Amino acid sequence: MEVVIVDSAREAGRIAADAIAELYAANPRAVLGVATGSSPLTIYRELAERVTTGDLSLAEARAFMLDEYVGLAEEHPQRYRNVIDRDFVSKLDIDPANVSGPDGQADDLVAECAAYEQAISAAGGIDLQILGVGADGHIAFNEPGSSLGSRTRIKTLTRQTRTDNARFFDDIEAVPHHCLTQGLGTIMQCRHALLVATGRHKAEAVHHVVEGPITAMWPGSVLQLHPHVTVILDRPAASRLQLATYYEEAYRAKPPWQQL
Ligand code: GLP
Repeated sequence: MEVVIVDSAREAGRIAADAIAELYAANPRAVLGVATGSSPLTIYRELAERVTTGDLSLAEARAFMLDEYVGLAEEHPQRYRNVIDRDFVSKLDIDPANVSGPDGQADDLVAECAAYEQAISAAGGIDLQILGVGADGHIAFNEPGSSLGSRTRIKTLTRQTRTDNARFFDDIEAVPHHCLTQGLGTIMQCRHALLVATGRHKAEAVHHVVEGPITAMWPGSVLQLHPHVTVILDRPAASRLQLATYYEEAYRAKPPWQQL
Protein backbone atom coordinates (compact mmCIF):
# COMPACT_ATOMS: atom_id res chain seq x y z
CA MET A 1 0.00 0.00 0.00
CA GLU A 2 1.43 3.33 -1.02
CA VAL A 3 0.30 6.33 1.04
CA VAL A 4 0.64 9.75 -0.56
CA ILE A 5 0.05 12.75 1.69
CA VAL A 6 -0.76 16.01 -0.09
CA ASP A 7 -1.59 19.60 0.84
CA SER A 8 -5.08 19.84 -0.64
CA ALA A 9 -7.98 17.93 -2.14
CA ARG A 10 -7.13 19.59 -5.44
CA GLU A 11 -3.64 18.09 -5.39
CA ALA A 12 -5.11 14.68 -4.52
CA GLY A 13 -7.31 14.98 -7.61
CA ARG A 14 -4.36 15.94 -9.79
CA ILE A 15 -2.20 13.01 -8.68
CA ALA A 16 -5.07 10.54 -9.12
CA ALA A 17 -5.85 11.99 -12.56
CA ASP A 18 -2.17 11.56 -13.53
CA ALA A 19 -2.45 7.83 -12.79
CA ILE A 20 -5.69 7.57 -14.78
CA ALA A 21 -4.19 9.52 -17.70
CA GLU A 22 -1.19 7.16 -17.75
CA LEU A 23 -3.55 4.18 -17.83
CA TYR A 24 -5.47 5.57 -20.82
CA ALA A 25 -2.29 6.59 -22.64
CA ALA A 26 -1.25 2.93 -22.47
CA ASN A 27 -4.71 1.49 -23.18
CA PRO A 28 -7.56 3.72 -24.44
CA ARG A 29 -10.02 0.87 -23.77
CA ALA A 30 -9.10 0.46 -20.10
CA VAL A 31 -11.86 -0.23 -17.59
CA LEU A 32 -12.34 2.37 -14.86
CA GLY A 33 -14.16 1.79 -11.59
CA VAL A 34 -16.01 4.94 -10.56
CA ALA A 35 -17.25 5.97 -7.13
CA THR A 36 -19.87 8.42 -5.93
CA GLY A 37 -19.45 10.75 -2.96
CA SER A 38 -17.52 13.97 -2.56
CA SER A 39 -14.05 12.39 -2.40
CA PRO A 40 -13.67 11.64 -6.16
CA LEU A 41 -15.03 15.02 -7.31
CA THR A 42 -11.62 16.67 -7.62
CA ILE A 43 -10.48 13.70 -9.73
CA TYR A 44 -13.45 14.04 -12.08
CA ARG A 45 -12.88 17.80 -12.36
CA GLU A 46 -9.22 17.31 -13.19
CA LEU A 47 -10.06 14.62 -15.77
CA ALA A 48 -12.67 16.93 -17.33
CA GLU A 49 -10.07 19.71 -17.72
CA ARG A 50 -7.71 17.32 -19.49
CA VAL A 51 -10.47 16.14 -21.83
CA THR A 52 -11.31 19.77 -22.64
CA THR A 53 -7.68 20.58 -23.45
CA GLY A 54 -7.41 17.42 -25.58
CA ASP A 55 -4.78 15.84 -23.32
CA LEU A 56 -7.02 12.89 -22.42
CA SER A 57 -9.84 10.96 -24.02
CA LEU A 58 -12.14 8.41 -22.44
CA ALA A 59 -14.07 7.95 -25.70
CA GLU A 60 -13.24 4.24 -25.79
CA ALA A 61 -13.29 3.66 -22.04
CA ARG A 62 -15.65 1.41 -20.11
CA ALA A 63 -16.67 2.24 -16.56
CA PHE A 64 -18.39 0.36 -13.75
CA MET A 65 -19.99 1.87 -10.68
CA LEU A 66 -19.44 0.50 -7.19
CA ASP A 67 -22.94 0.60 -5.81
CA GLU A 68 -26.53 1.80 -6.03
CA TYR A 69 -29.44 2.48 -3.70
CA VAL A 70 -32.32 0.02 -3.87
CA GLY A 71 -35.69 1.39 -4.81
CA LEU A 72 -34.99 5.00 -5.82
CA ALA A 73 -37.08 6.06 -8.82
CA GLU A 74 -35.29 6.36 -12.14
CA GLU A 75 -35.42 10.16 -12.09
CA HIS A 76 -34.43 10.54 -8.41
CA PRO A 77 -31.45 12.94 -8.29
CA GLN A 78 -29.68 10.81 -5.65
CA ARG A 79 -29.93 7.56 -7.59
CA TYR A 80 -26.23 6.82 -7.99
CA ARG A 81 -26.55 6.32 -11.74
CA ASN A 82 -27.85 9.92 -11.95
CA VAL A 83 -25.09 11.15 -9.63
CA ILE A 84 -22.43 9.52 -11.82
CA ASP A 85 -24.06 10.93 -14.96
CA ARG A 86 -23.92 14.43 -13.42
CA ASP A 87 -20.48 14.31 -11.77
CA PHE A 88 -18.58 12.16 -14.24
CA VAL A 89 -20.24 11.18 -17.53
CA SER A 90 -21.57 14.64 -18.47
CA LYS A 91 -18.16 16.26 -17.93
CA LEU A 92 -16.13 13.82 -20.04
CA ASP A 93 -16.22 12.27 -23.49
CA ILE A 94 -17.09 8.77 -22.24
CA ASP A 95 -20.01 7.07 -24.00
CA PRO A 96 -22.86 6.84 -21.42
CA ALA A 97 -23.70 3.42 -22.88
CA ASN A 98 -20.27 2.24 -21.70
CA VAL A 99 -20.97 3.14 -18.07
CA SER A 100 -22.69 0.43 -16.04
CA GLY A 101 -24.07 0.21 -12.55
CA PRO A 102 -26.16 -2.31 -10.67
CA ASP A 103 -29.90 -1.65 -11.14
CA GLY A 104 -31.46 -0.98 -7.76
CA GLN A 105 -34.93 -1.21 -9.30
CA ALA A 106 -34.51 -4.68 -10.80
CA ASP A 107 -37.37 -7.10 -10.06
CA ASP A 108 -34.90 -9.81 -9.14
CA LEU A 109 -32.10 -8.16 -7.17
CA VAL A 110 -30.19 -11.40 -6.63
CA ALA A 111 -30.08 -12.10 -10.37
CA GLU A 112 -29.13 -8.46 -10.99
CA CYS A 113 -26.10 -8.79 -8.67
CA ALA A 114 -24.97 -12.00 -10.40
CA ALA A 115 -25.38 -10.36 -13.82
CA TYR A 116 -23.33 -7.37 -12.64
CA GLU A 117 -20.46 -9.61 -11.57
CA GLN A 118 -20.67 -11.30 -14.98
CA ALA A 119 -20.58 -7.96 -16.79
CA ILE A 120 -17.43 -6.87 -14.94
CA SER A 121 -15.73 -10.18 -15.77
CA ALA A 122 -16.83 -10.03 -19.40
CA ALA A 123 -15.23 -6.57 -19.68
CA GLY A 124 -11.95 -8.10 -18.53
CA GLY A 125 -12.13 -6.80 -14.95
CA ILE A 126 -11.48 -3.32 -13.60
CA ASP A 127 -8.08 -1.81 -14.35
CA LEU A 128 -8.25 1.08 -11.90
CA GLN A 129 -10.86 1.40 -9.18
CA ILE A 130 -11.46 4.83 -7.62
CA LEU A 131 -12.54 4.51 -3.98
CA GLY A 132 -13.63 6.77 -1.16
CA VAL A 133 -14.03 5.60 2.42
CA GLY A 134 -16.96 6.05 4.79
CA ALA A 135 -16.47 7.34 8.34
CA ASP A 136 -17.05 3.76 9.55
CA GLY A 137 -14.42 2.37 7.18
CA HIS A 138 -16.82 1.13 4.50
CA ILE A 139 -15.71 1.03 0.87
CA ALA A 140 -18.48 1.07 -1.73
CA PHE A 141 -21.36 0.16 0.60
CA ASN A 142 -19.60 -2.70 2.37
CA GLU A 143 -20.58 -1.87 5.92
CA PRO A 144 -18.73 -3.13 9.02
CA GLY A 145 -19.21 -6.87 9.33
CA SER A 146 -19.12 -7.44 5.57
CA SER A 147 -17.46 -10.66 4.49
CA LEU A 148 -13.95 -9.91 3.27
CA GLY A 149 -14.68 -12.27 0.36
CA SER A 150 -18.12 -10.86 -0.48
CA ARG A 151 -19.39 -10.39 -4.04
CA THR A 152 -21.98 -7.96 -5.42
CA ARG A 153 -25.10 -8.31 -3.27
CA ILE A 154 -27.84 -6.50 -1.40
CA LYS A 155 -26.74 -4.84 1.86
CA THR A 156 -28.52 -2.97 4.62
CA LEU A 157 -27.05 0.47 5.29
CA THR A 158 -26.03 1.35 8.83
CA ARG A 159 -27.63 4.22 10.71
CA GLN A 160 -24.24 6.02 10.52
CA THR A 161 -24.11 5.81 6.71
CA ARG A 162 -27.76 6.86 6.36
CA THR A 163 -27.05 9.81 8.69
CA ASP A 164 -23.92 10.75 6.69
CA ASN A 165 -25.84 10.56 3.41
CA ALA A 166 -28.96 12.35 4.74
CA ARG A 167 -27.38 15.63 3.58
CA PHE A 168 -28.28 14.65 0.02
CA PHE A 169 -31.92 13.89 0.89
CA ASP A 170 -34.77 15.80 2.56
CA ASP A 171 -34.17 13.94 5.83
CA ILE A 172 -32.72 10.65 7.08
CA GLU A 173 -36.02 8.81 6.61
CA ALA A 174 -35.76 9.47 2.87
CA VAL A 175 -32.39 7.65 2.68
CA PRO A 176 -33.00 4.06 1.50
CA HIS A 177 -32.25 1.24 3.91
CA HIS A 178 -30.87 -1.03 1.20
CA CYS A 179 -28.32 -0.91 -1.55
CA LEU A 180 -26.61 -3.13 -4.09
CA THR A 181 -22.85 -3.01 -3.76
CA GLN A 182 -19.81 -4.66 -5.25
CA GLY A 183 -18.43 -6.93 -2.56
CA LEU A 184 -15.02 -6.64 -0.95
CA GLY A 185 -13.99 -9.73 -2.94
CA THR A 186 -15.17 -8.02 -6.13
CA ILE A 187 -13.22 -4.84 -5.38
CA MET A 188 -10.12 -6.86 -4.49
CA GLN A 189 -10.02 -8.19 -8.07
CA CYS A 190 -9.35 -4.75 -9.57
CA ARG A 191 -5.79 -4.34 -10.83
CA HIS A 192 -5.12 -1.02 -9.09
CA ALA A 193 -7.14 0.46 -6.24
CA LEU A 194 -6.88 4.20 -5.69
CA LEU A 195 -8.49 5.47 -2.50
CA VAL A 196 -8.89 9.18 -1.83
CA ALA A 197 -9.82 10.64 1.56
CA THR A 198 -9.75 14.23 2.74
CA GLY A 199 -10.75 15.96 5.96
CA ARG A 200 -10.36 15.23 9.66
CA HIS A 201 -13.68 13.35 9.79
CA LYS A 202 -11.95 10.59 7.79
CA ALA A 203 -8.86 10.35 10.02
CA GLU A 204 -10.14 7.52 12.22
CA ALA A 205 -11.28 5.40 9.28
CA VAL A 206 -7.98 6.03 7.46
CA HIS A 207 -6.03 5.03 10.56
CA HIS A 208 -7.90 1.70 10.79
CA VAL A 209 -7.91 0.99 7.05
CA VAL A 210 -4.23 1.74 6.48
CA GLU A 211 -2.54 0.76 9.72
CA GLY A 212 -5.04 -1.27 11.72
CA PRO A 213 -5.47 -5.01 11.72
CA ILE A 214 -7.34 -6.49 8.74
CA THR A 215 -10.86 -6.86 10.03
CA ALA A 216 -14.43 -6.88 8.77
CA MET A 217 -15.11 -4.23 11.42
CA TRP A 218 -13.16 -1.77 9.22
CA PRO A 219 -13.97 -3.20 5.79
CA GLY A 220 -11.49 -1.04 3.84
CA SER A 221 -8.65 -2.70 5.78
CA VAL A 222 -8.96 -5.68 3.39
CA LEU A 223 -7.07 -3.49 0.89
CA GLN A 224 -3.90 -4.25 2.86
CA LEU A 225 -4.00 -7.64 1.11
CA HIS A 226 -4.18 -6.09 -2.37
CA PRO A 227 -0.87 -5.96 -4.29
CA HIS A 228 -1.43 -2.50 -5.79
CA VAL A 229 -3.17 0.13 -3.68
CA THR A 230 -2.57 3.87 -3.63
CA VAL A 231 -4.08 5.91 -0.78
CA ILE A 232 -4.07 9.67 -1.38
CA LEU A 233 -4.78 11.79 1.71
CA ASP A 234 -4.74 15.40 2.74
CA ARG A 235 -3.01 16.22 6.04
CA PRO A 236 -6.18 16.21 8.21
CA ALA A 237 -7.17 12.75 6.89
CA ALA A 238 -3.60 11.53 7.52
CA SER A 239 -3.41 13.07 10.99
CA ARG A 240 -3.75 9.77 12.88
CA LEU A 241 -1.24 7.77 10.86
CA GLN A 242 1.69 6.45 12.87
CA LEU A 243 4.01 6.23 9.87
CA ALA A 244 3.05 9.53 8.19
CA THR A 245 6.63 10.84 8.19
CA TYR A 246 7.87 7.63 6.59
CA TYR A 247 5.18 7.76 3.88
CA GLU A 248 6.18 11.33 3.05
CA GLU A 249 9.88 10.47 2.91
CA ALA A 250 9.18 7.44 0.71
CA TYR A 251 7.09 9.48 -1.72
CA ARG A 252 9.71 12.25 -1.93
CA ALA A 253 12.46 9.71 -2.57
CA LYS A 254 10.47 7.74 -5.13
CA PRO A 255 12.47 6.84 -8.24
CA PRO A 256 11.18 8.91 -11.18
CA TRP A 257 10.47 5.78 -13.27
CA GLN A 258 8.16 4.35 -10.65
CA GLN A 259 4.53 5.26 -11.22
CA LEU A 260 1.72 5.23 -8.69
C1 GLP B 1 -20.97 6.48 0.16
C2 GLP B 1 -20.49 5.67 -1.04
C3 GLP B 1 -19.03 5.34 -0.95
C4 GLP B 1 -18.23 6.57 -0.57
C5 GLP B 1 -18.68 7.08 0.78
C6 GLP B 1 -17.89 8.30 1.25
O1 GLP B 1 -21.36 5.70 1.23
N1 GLP B 1 -21.25 4.49 -1.22
O2 GLP B 1 -18.58 4.80 -2.18
O3 GLP B 1 -16.87 6.26 -0.53
O4 GLP B 1 -20.05 7.44 0.65
O5 GLP B 1 -18.40 9.45 0.65
P1 GLP B 1 -17.68 10.85 0.63
O6 GLP B 1 -16.59 10.74 -0.37
O7 GLP B 1 -18.74 11.82 0.20
O8 GLP B 1 -17.19 11.09 2.00
